[in-house]
Amino acid sequence: MANSKTLSLAIFTILVLSAEAAVKGGYWYYDSGLDPSAIDSSYFTHLFCAFAKLDSTTNKITLPSSSFSTFTQSVQKKNPSVKTLLSIGGGGEGSLPFPKMANNTTSRKSFIDSSIQVARSNNFHGLDLDWEYPSSDTDKTNFGLLLTEWRTAITQESRTSGKTPLLLSAAVAGSDQISPLKYYNGEAISKNLDWINVMVYDLFIPSGSKTTTRPPAPLYNPGGQFSGDQGITAWINQVGVKANKLAIGLPFYGYAWKLVNANNHGLFAAANGEGSTPSGDGTPLYSDIRSFIRNQGAQSVYNSSYVSNYCYSGSTWVGYDDTQSVSAKVNYAKQKGLLGYFAWQIGGDDRWTLSKAASNAWGS
Ligand SMILES: *[C@@H]1O[C@H](CO)[C@@H](O)[C@H](O)[C@H]1NC(C)=O
Ligand SMILES: *[C@@H]1O[C@H](CO)[C@@H](O)[C@H](O)[C@H]1NC(C)=O
Ligand SMILES: *[C@@H]1O[C@H](CO)[C@@H](O)[C@H](O)[C@H]1NC(C)=O
Repeated sequence: MANSKTLSLAIFTILVLSAEAAVKGGYWYYDSGLDPSAIDSSYFTHLFCAFAKLDSTTNKITLPSSSFSTFTQSVQKKNPSVKTLLSIGGGGEGSLPFPKMANNTTSRKSFIDSSIQVARSNNFHGLDLDWEYPSSDTDKTNFGLLLTEWRTAITQESRTSGKTPLLLSAAVAGSDQISPLKYYNGEAISKNLDWINVMVYDLFIPSGSKTTTRPPAPLYNPGGQFSGDQGITAWINQVGVKANKLAIGLPFYGYAWKLVNANNHGLFAAANGEGSTPSGDGTPLYSDIRSFIRNQGAQSVYNSSYVSNYCYSGSTWVGYDDTQSVSAKVNYAKQKGLLGYFAWQIGGDDRWTLSKAASNAWGS
């Protein structure tokens, strides 16, 4: 019979293991050209494999590529303790089937059962819902029901299989600037999800702000309303989700504007809509931006008041996150008591520069 010391140690261990210590997350997107075997997983605690699709006819999920089945095995070679989550949905068409599926007990059950079955049979440690975005009171109710039933099913499956419960997370709108946060049920999220990935980026983009350059994902906004800090604070104070359930989003890409006058190249300089970089068009990846700086001699500037980088050459101006803004955002996350951070998407990195800067800023 175990003595009480061993027993309390065992209980202590279970309690410690049941909460995530920290999330250094990154999304891998199957169409990014980055092979899973080339991911330096040592910079991450959690990798999201994106995106599984929801079939609107069967309400089951399908995988778009055979590399999903070997993803966990591939990324655990360099880091055996990295956890993997299968992300479902995504922007645009990927999210279209969610409102209808979530509106009915039968279809929710098909979806939930299918997601658990696909996650287990492909060796994922968890599931991540990318419904962009719940946008009505009906969606809000159904999103809450979905999370509650999903958690119940995950707990049940763990009891039956004897395996560690699957992790359950969601990627959510970062701010009312993106989609109204009032359509999220904070209580259902807090009770049923391990954490949420708060997408505090794409706040200011050339299609919405044609006449001046902008920081696309500022942490602070001394001259206006919306920012990463404003979004995170709204999630805590208005939606009511605790800081230690939030991971802050880091964009590994930027947006290009066309300057009206090449000599006027600061933040909020006069612009003529969307610009274009040689290898990355209007939404260059971080690696495209580094090439633009190297090959075009673009000048790079860090503005610490907004926490944004930008660079320019000729009449092309790009707002983006470099090592300074990434480190500052991760430091903010740590100071604010957040669970961690995540990157969209790691195929945009340039020789793991940003992944490393983020990981170092968080520490171990
Ligand atoms: C949800 O179901 C109700 C009736 O059960 C229906 O009136 C409504 O249009 C449905 N909404 C969606 C988004 O499918
Ligand atoms: C829910 O969905 C099932 C199967 O898709 C269907 O048979 C049923 O009629 C739906 N119920 C409602 C209330 O729409
Ligand atoms: C950031 O940019 C704004 C707008 O151009 C400017 O007023 C501010 O001084 C800059 N801050 C830093 C620290 O450079």
